[in-house]
Amino acid sequence: MRDAPLEFVTAMAAYGDVTRHDADGEPVYMLNRPDLARYVLKENGTNYTKDRTPDDAMLRPLLGNGLLTSNGKEWAAQRRMCAPAFRLTEVERFDQVITDAARNLLDRWSDGPDGRAVRVDHDLTALTLTVIVRAMLGTDVGAIGAGFGRAVDAVNRFIGHYVPTDDPDPADTARRYAGFQRARAFLDQVTRVIIAARRSGGGDGDDLLTSMLAAGHAMSDTDLRDQVLTIVMAGHETTAKALTWTLYLLDRHRDAARAVYDEIDEVLGGRLPTAGDLPRLTACRRAIQEAMRLYPPVWLISRRSVEADVIDGYDVPAGTLVCISPWTLHRDPRYWDEPDAYRPERFTQERSARHLSHQYLPFGGGPRICIGRHFALVEAVLALAVLLQRLRLELVEGFPVEPEALVTLRPRHGMMMIPRPR
Ligand code: HEM
Repeated sequence: MRDAPLEFVTAMAAYGDVTRHDADGEPVYMLNRPDLARYVLKENGTNYTKDRTPDDAMLRPLLGNGLLTSNGKEWAAQRRMCAPAFRLTEVERFDQVITDAARNLLDRWSDGPDGRAVRVDHDLTALTLTVIVRAMLGTDVGAIGAGFGRAVDAVNRFIGHYVPTDDPDPADTARRYAGFQRARAFLDQVTRVIIAARRSGGGDGDDLLTSMLAAGHAMSDTDLRDQVLTIVMAGHETTAKALTWTLYLLDRHRDAARAVYDEIDEVLGGRLPTAGDLPRLTACRRAIQEAMRLYPPVWLISRRSVEADVIDGYDVPAGTLVCISPWTLHRDPRYWDEPDAYRPERFTQERSARHLSHQYLPFGGGPRICIGRHFALVEAVLALAVLLQRLRLELVEGFPVEPEALVTLRPRHGMMMIPRPR
């Protein structure tokens, strides 16, 4: 599981719909059928907690008890408080924040010398971080301390890696851990300053923090800190990975790319998109949805059973770790024709309606489904429409592309591409 997680979960899925293996001395059940995913995430969701799951162990030291990590009544109260700010109509208000940031990146990519390669995955992470910080806090990531972007990067690098028990390079881990601690202290301080300023009446009132303060005036500063960092951290790396894989796949599939370029030209005619254009940017949206099928940014979802349960005829004792992998479900030939082929048309309205419940779950499912899914899709579609208006991105010849399953599914060696006029 640690050496080759994707190969491991794929082999387990081939073995059966419910499998068991032992990891760190405890049994782990993997569920490999849409109805079983639905059962654990939704139908019997209250019997499955995130408490003491591997994700919990990685994320709690940084994010404390925010929406991503909390459970039970606390989680329900937080979700109720945050939900209104994440409705589609609310997040569409940030269209210009998104197109401004994407336009800046487009200019940067266009300005370099001909044939210069860019690190697409890094640039897109910087883009989505800029967007979420502005949407959440109403400020520029640069303006809240030059080190903010760097601190987020150090944290991502640390929590992004499972640390094996037989750590091959303890010195490197210790170095990254020290970096993580410094970054955490920095992020903590910056977030607290922003919250204090906002409580005493600062801010323009048009960001997510203001909506959350209005809804949750009873929240302590620590609760609010946890929530702000949770949204900033959960709200950028995943979307950046979805966009990175989309650009890669569009370079490999010229027909799909042509459909996207034609749509951008027809709908926008050279101007920047707004939220009002989203209903007509369907080829862009499908290109992203299909990229998230092949490369789901969250490739593994884990829960722990509270009470003993029976799943598909198998006894699941109380306290058992239960995992669902979007990676395997999204590539299962029982549910997808030619599952390894990139075919955005799988996501036309008509064909999506025929998908089984939980056959496609890039955002998870049930009550704990991603609260930022509208935000993510609005951002990804608008950013794609801006970036591909003038350019196409071409993979550097011979550049090795291989998915690496950390907390998110990233390209192991990064993604080096050359921006070309299209
Ligand atoms: C393509 C982009 C994204 C993907 C693939 C993604 C995926 C997911 C998944 C799979 C979950 C459920 C995890 C589980 O059940 O264990 C989740 C939860 C969550 N996501 Fe996202 N996400 C994305 C973007 C965002 C954005 C933009 C935000 C915030 C602005 C966000 C905030 C959250 C939060 C707060 C939760 C926890 C929700 C809860 O437990 O109530 N995500 N995300």
